[in-house]
Formats: sequence, structure tokens, C-alpha cells
Amino acid sequence: MEHKKIGSLFIVLGLSSLLIGLFFGSIGGLQYLLPAFLKEQLAFQKTRPLHVYLVINFIFSTAAGCIYYFLPAATGRKLYSVKLGIGQFSLQLFILLIIVSFFFAGKFSGREYLEFPPWISLIILSSWIIFMINFFKSIPLSFNHAPVYLWSWSTGLIFYFITMTEAHLWLLPYFNNNIVRDLTVQWKALGSMVGAWNMLVYGTSMFVMESISGDKTINKSKTAFFFYFLGLTNLMFNWGHHTYIVPSSHIVKDVSFIISMTELLILGKIIYNFRKSYIEAKLKYHHLPFRLLSFADGWIFLNLVLAIIISVPAINLYTHGTHITVAHAMGATIGINTMLLLGSVFFILDEMNESMMERFKKYFGFAIVLLNISLTIFWASLIGSGIAKSIDLQQKNFFAVIMDQLKPYFAIFMGSGILVMIALFLILIPIFKTFIHYISAGKN
Ligand code: HEM
Repeated sequence: MEHKKIGSLFIVLGLSSLLIGLFFGSIGGLQYLLPAFLKEQLAFQKTRPLHVYLVINFIFSTAAGCIYYFLPAATGRKLYSVKLGIGQFSLQLFILLIIVSFFFAGKFSGREYLEFPPWISLIILSSWIIFMINFFKSIPLSFNHAPVYLWSWSTGLIFYFITMTEAHLWLLPYFNNNIVRDLTVQWKALGSMVGAWNMLVYGTSMFVMESISGDKTINKSKTAFFFYFLGLTNLMFNWGHHTYIVPSSHIVKDVSFIISMTELLILGKIIYNFRKSYIEAKLKYHHLPFRLLSFADGWIFLNLVLAIIISVPAINLYTHGTHITVAHAMGATIGINTMLLLGSVFFILDEMNESMMERFKKYFGFAIVLLNISLTIFWASLIGSGIAKSIDLQQKNFFAVIMDQLKPYFAIFMGSGILVMIALFLILIPIFKTFIHYISAGKN
């Protein structure tokens, strides 16, 4: 089995995670409206971590799959070890199964976003070390003249390892005995971890853009490297906006506020430039990856506006802990990460089964539009409920009154959330079948 099949295995793992994760997200959405729904069997305390873990696993596994798939074409060298790739895949599948079982059993002994028992992180880190060995042994020794995506992937790999380790410092008394230190380190680690997965996802999109346009200069340009270093600065320093409520250093918060504002803008500019050159040059018609990149572009701008607003400390004071934060998280992970990853997956599908892509073009086009319309309503309903809640809190209303007033927003959230799920199912099921067919076919 060669690198494309290993990449496909990871992509299938990622897509399966998303399909199941969406199911739990929708149950969670229903529980906003009907808190008693499945309370005994599958309470919100379980559906939330199941949903969040599975969708984040989708991002990591699909990005890893795209890296395995593209790496030899990106470097002109063979993958270092197929066996290591299979070993990593087996470990990740095992990790997925034990984490989901632990969550179902209600065993949550970790921290937010990493609620599984901390010893499982040792297995996660081991699988990541295998990935790093395979990646770094597959790329040229010298980074001179390397395209920006090789830098992005390398950075994402290294920083995920660092931040995942850092996210477990709370196990040491020096950190968990001091609440300010503990919260600061926790948010620093998790904030930078998002930066690490962004590096993996953005690097993949950069490679796809280069392949679609055939222009090898875009990933060696000064703008691309300027953006990369800005992304790196964000990864290292923008986490401070998560700690506005923690009584820690003001300099950290001010620096991070300024830095937070920069990254998405530049990425938006790069994709915008790519679209312009694509339209001007009327290059080969890879319609669907292009369409997904364009939608991601739109979401980058919407999320940038929201991020600017909620990173203003005076506003953050009111929005913190409301659904506006959830809108920020899901707007970015669905609107940007998912659109970009689906763009890369469609690019692979084009190569794998062009006739299927041709036959399904209208169908996919419809599902992508449905996804974006429902996502806009979904996102707006979360912001609406966040604004309504912060007004209610200012007026010091009783909890029951607040919940009653939020019901219409929750109903819209749930309805549009189910549409987001349906649109993603429509997109994912034919993709899933094509990948399974490719993996099980004898040819490499
Ligand atoms: C690609 C699809 C999706 C991704 C990547 C995604 C991602 C996320 C993330 C990262 C969070 C954590 C937010 C936070 O901590 O602030 C979250 C929470 C949540 N998501 Fe999703 N989501 C997706 C689809 C959906 C859908 C279709 C629904 C259906 C209604 C949904 C319902 C929820 C709920 C109820 C929460 C918990 C929010 C809370 O803590 O109050 N998600 N999602």
C-alpha cells in the first residue's frame, strides 16, 4: 500500500469522525431547546465532549490524510515509511475508539476539550511522534527554497506536539496549585493548538492552490512567507485574548489583541489573489475545490469581523461565556477549516474519479450552497442568542426568564444545525464511498 492509500485511510477516518460528530452535535442542539431530551441516556455533558472531540479529530485526521497524500508530489521524494504510516493510523483508530468509549461511559478525568483520562494523551503523543518521524524523514534536509506549505506543515507538526504536552502541565502541583498560572497555561496551550492545526490545514490548501493554478511561484513569494511568519506569531502569542478574565499581565493581553487581528486578513488576501489570478487566467476547470475556497474566503472575513469585535476587552467582558464564543469557534471550524479541508478532499477526488465528480457536480454544488446558507443562519442565531443573553444578564433577569427569551434563537439554531448536518451528509456520503472503493481496489 503506498502513500495515497495511507492518506485515504486517514481521510476516511476523518470523515467518519465528522459524520458521527455531527450526529452528537445535533442531539446537543436539540438539548438546548429540550433540556430533558435523552437526559438519562446521553445528557448534554456527554454529547458536547463527544461532538467536540469527534469534529476536532476530523480536522486533524483529514489534514494528516491530505499531507500523506500530497507529500511525495510536494517534495519529489518517496514517503519514508509506509509501515510507520500504517502504525500511526492503527494507533489513531485505537485512540478514537477508547476515547468515545470513555465518554459514553461518562468517564471524564481530563480538562475542557481534552476531557479523556490524561494517560490516553501518551498514546496520542506517541502516534504524533511516528507522524513527525515519517514526515521529517520524507522531506529534503535543507529548507532552502522550500515552498511555504512545507514550512507550515513542519510548524504545525512540531507545535501540536509542544502544545499537547503543555496542555498537561496542570498535572504538576506547581501549576494546579495556582489558579492564575493554571488557567493561563491551559488557555495558552489550547489557543496555540488551534494555531497548530491551522498550519496543517492552511499548508494543505496552499499546496492545492498551487496545483490548481500550476503557478509554483505563489508558495515561494514574499507575501506567502510574510503570511507564514504572521501565522507563526499568532500561534505563539495570540492566545492572550482567551485570558482577558484572568488577572494576569496586561502586556500579554495587549500584544495578543493586536496580533490576533492580523492573521485571517492576510489569509483572506492570499485566497482572494488566487481567485483573481484563476479567473483572469481561466485555468483548468476544477470547479468544486475552487468554489469551497471561495466560500472559505467569505467565512474568513465574517469571522475576522466577529473576532475583532469580541477581542475588544470592553466588549469581551459582556460576550465572554455567551453563545457568541461558540459562534466564533464553530464559525471558524466549519466555515474555514471544514471548507478548506473539503476543498482539498474534492481536489483529490478529481484525481481519483473524475467521471464521478463530473456526474455529481450539480449535486455537490447544491449541497455546498445549502451548507453555506444554513451555516449563515446557524452562526447568526448563536450571535443573536449571545447578544440577547448578555442584555438579559445586564438587566439581572432570572435564569428561567433568560432561558425563555432565548428559546426562539435556540429553535433557529437547532433547525439550521440539522440543515448543516444534512448538507454535510449529502457531501460526505458519496465522497466516503469513493474513498472506500479506492482503498479496497487492488491497484495503487
Ligand atoms: C463541521 C461541523 C461542525 C464543527 C467543525 C463543529 C465544531 C464545534 C466546536 C469546535 C465546538 C466547541 C465550541 C466552544 O467550545 O465554544 C462546538 C460546539 C457545539 N456544537 Fe458544533 N460543530 C459542527 C457542527 C455542528 C452542528 C451541525 C450542530 C447542530 C446543532 C452543532 C452543535 C454544537 C453544540 C450544541 C455545541 C456545544 C456548544 C455549547 O457548549 O453550548 N455543531 N462545535
